[in-house]
Amino acid sequence: MIPATLSLDPAFRVGAVDARLFGSFAEHMGRCVYTGIYEPDHPTADPDGFRGDVLDLVRELGATIVRYPGGNFVSGYRWEDGVGPRDERPRRLDLAWRSLEPNSVGVDEFVAWCGRARVEPMMAVNLGTRGVADAVDLLEYCNYPEGTRLSDLRRANGAKEPHDIRVWCLGNELDGPWQIGHKTAFEYGRLAAETARAMRKVDADLELVACGSSNTTMPTFAAWESTVLQECYDAVDYVSLHNYYDPVGATAEDFLASGVDLDRAIDAVVATADHVGARLKSRRRLKVSVDEWNVWYQANWNEPEHARTDWVEARRLIEDTYDVVDAAVVGSLLISLLRHADRVGIACQAQLVNVIAPIRTEPGGAAWRQTIFHPFAQAAAFARGDVLRVEPRVATYDTDGHGEVPLLDATATHDEESGAVTLLAVNRSTTDELELSADVRAFADHRLAGATTLTAPDVRTTNSAENPHAVAPTDNPRAHLADGRLTVVLPPVSWNVVRLVPNTNPAPTLSKED
Ligand code: AHR
Repeated sequence: MIPATLSLDPAFRVGAVDARLFGSFAEHMGRCVYTGIYEPDHPTADPDGFRGDVLDLVRELGATIVRYPGGNFVSGYRWEDGVGPRDERPRRLDLAWRSLEPNSVGVDEFVAWCGRARVEPMMAVNLGTRGVADAVDLLEYCNYPEGTRLSDLRRANGAKEPHDIRVWCLGNELDGPWQIGHKTAFEYGRLAAETARAMRKVDADLELVACGSSNTTMPTFAAWESTVLQECYDAVDYVSLHNYYDPVGATAEDFLASGVDLDRAIDAVVATADHVGARLKSRRRLKVSVDEWNVWYQANWNEPEHARTDWVEARRLIEDTYDVVDAAVVGSLLISLLRHADRVGIACQAQLVNVIAPIRTEPGGAAWRQTIFHPFAQAAAFARGDVLRVEPRVATYDTDGHGEVPLLDATATHDEESGAVTLLAVNRSTTDELELSADVRAFADHRLAGATTLTAPDVRTTNSAENPHAVAPTDNPRAHLADGRLTVVLPPVSWNVVRLVPNTNPAPTLSKED
């Protein structure tokens, strides 16, 4: 057993947890929308065609904001195709994913679905094939109350009240040569600035996200952000960061260190944004929107073969199946996001259903929780209030990809209102238990409310339609609190949650009911 220590003290805080850190992403891609969230013939479908079993799981997941409609898809999208009577909507070629787009779901349906899922919509505009005018038109359609052609069109289409969408992405990954309408950093920076300024004339209270790099391995990473922000710094509120972590070809030890890479990526984007702010002598500080992150078995994604297939609707695309190692890495990525709560204001796990997703479905059949569902759901449910600076001390191990990496990844939150303290921890060791000892003297009036661990004897175990509960958090009986010290044993390759509550509070359970 390897020892590890940390301290929990409300005097040392990183920043407040923004609920939007627990965002997700629904792209018109593969089966995320069609036979994912929308399937009118499904036995659980509501009168609007939304799958009830998926809505139940999305609410349980606790996602707070959902980005839509892409992704690469948005860079060729005409939003007008997706409004009005369904039988008059055009079928189009979706060039991004070589699919047929029926347009049965558009912005009005998505916003209605968000209401039922209890999430906030986060809308992207097309800055690939389109520009300022179309972005402003979509905003007028969505947010202007009434009395103009587009707001009255929305009302005629059944949405009497404005959709009131606050957060808007100014395009998607326009640094990527694969992106329809790919641009240089200067071209995109100018377009983002002008689009933002025009959109704010329609609605002054928007929160706008400029596209950062598609990932940190892009040759233009950081240079792209610098040039883009030089043009649009004062017009936007966030710069985006996208990063996926690929288990294919990596050792489990290396892959389990992915959170270190996300830490560095966030730090690099923050440093670049602040550098531009300093050059511009601006007092504003931009936040980062990590609006695509996840584990993605990307090396298995055979694009040439995919590109040869016929044009079809709702093709199965990148429906990765996740195991315990993936769940531990997702836990670590969530810890990294929380650790940067002072600068990361939005984060969206990509995606929500079927496409590299925590929720999987079969058409006409079951919906189930993948292993990665659980760390997200627990963090979204329990990480409230302020993130604490916990300063873990533990042995490190050597990795090819990330250098020396601590065996323990951990963060904690303290909710001043309820008094609850939540410790989130990942044991990255593939062989050893960690014996974590936490100094909790600052929470002397607290008691242990529960501890769970997610692991399995075989860390390659996955969930499936036939065996949906193979991997789930279980109570961890090896957690104890006495004399201002919390001790808990963390199994190898595990995601862990420990909760302390004031003695006066009733005990909340940490186990999820089915
Ligand atoms: O999430 C899948 C794709 O990954 C998105 O469409 C794109 O933005 C990213 O490259």
